[in-house]
Amino acid sequence: MSRLVLRQLAAGHGRAPVFQGLDLEVADGEFIVLLGPSGCGKSTLLHAIAGLVEVRQGQVLIGGHDMTDADPAERGIGMVFQSYALYPTMTVAGNIGFALRVAGLPAAEVAQRVQRVARLLQLEPLLQRKPAQLSGGQRQRVAIGRALVREPALFLFDEPLSNLDAQLRTELRRELKLLHRQLGSTMVYVTHDQVEAMTLATRLVVMHEGRIQQVGTPAEVYGRPANRFVASFVGSPGMAFEAGTLRVGPQGQVSFVSSRLQLLLDPATLDHPPRDGQAVHLGLRADQVRLHPDGPYEAAVQLVEPLGGQAVVWLDLGGCLLAALWSEPVLPAPDQRLRFTIHAAGASVFDAATGQRC
Ligand SMILES: Nc1ncnc2c1ncn2[C@@H]1O[C@H](COP(=O)(O)OP(=O)(O)O)[C@@H](O)[C@H]1O
Ligand SMILES: [Mg+2]
Repeated sequence: MSRLVLRQLAAGHGRAPVFQGLDLEVADGEFIVLLGPSGCGKSTLLHAIAGLVEVRQGQVLIGGHDMTDADPAERGIGMVFQSYALYPTMTVAGNIGFALRVAGLPAAEVAQRVQRVARLLQLEPLLQRKPAQLSGGQRQRVAIGRALVREPALFLFDEPLSNLDAQLRTELRRELKLLHRQLGSTMVYVTHDQVEAMTLATRLVVMHEGRIQQVGTPAEVYGRPANRFVASFVGSPGMAFEAGTLRVGPQGQVSFVSSRLQLLLDPATLDHPPRDGQAVHLGLRADQVRLHPDGPYEAAVQLVEPLGGQAVVWLDLGGCLLAALWSEPVLPAPDQRLRFTIHAAGASVFDAATGQRC
């Protein structure tokens, strides 16, 4: 089927490689999302899988076959780019069926497959229109249809929704997820939008500067970030960090101590045996900061960001900014003092020197 394996892969454009020694295994039917900041090498990696950029080292295996040197057209891949160049003079049906006609398929089969894809993408009423008569979202659906019609075992999406406005993006995101459920094909999807990443991925691959930082389910990557980069890149509002020291007590209890915070840690949050006196950064998400009138901490409200049903309240704890979630109808005012507790379960601790999860 369409298992994808990358082994010790190196690729780039100029003299220096964008990435090297990159390993990744994608199981058949997975929806893998590559998430990372602009310029980290996401597109180069997709292009290496597709055969559009030269692989300098390593292997690309698709469905168990070594495709490292195969022609892009022979790889059984459907690719959807951010900028979808449709043929302006062809109808929607013409655009979707183009590759099949070029491949010499009989007209009746082309028509049948175009119909099927159009039904799946709800493009049936639009089949006779030209691209200029379509909205952005409809055009992007045609671009997806063009990839889909070839019935590839592996789909590569390169930020396919980032040119669309927010509402359309949300709509197409849902459609892509439903489509994946219907087709069961393997998908590798590139984005720098973390809502897309969290909502679509069966597993997330977080990249930074050409290196894979972490591979895991969205819940794992959000809940147990492997290092400080992942911790600060994934999740909104962002994770708050506080520098301090680990203290290991006589019974082995581990606490975090700084001038502003003192917290007994949940041993389950630590991946490695802690060292007494280890310099660390404590990472707290809004989930860990719970507003409560009897809480042991007190801080002034710096800023309130209403989100509709909820609001993010930024608390200034003597210079350390912590986000908390607020769901009451009346919002707190700036400078108002609020009490809160910190839930140790779910907190992350990173070594101050290496940035790796403790
Ligand atoms: N065609 C190209 N020629 C030269 N350098 C390129 C080309 N495409 C990308 N790069 C460089 O390769 C690096 C990775 O780019 P890219 O894979 O496009 O990142 P991303 O998709 O994550 O934004 C960047 O430093 C970028 O400037
Ligand atoms: Mg890119």
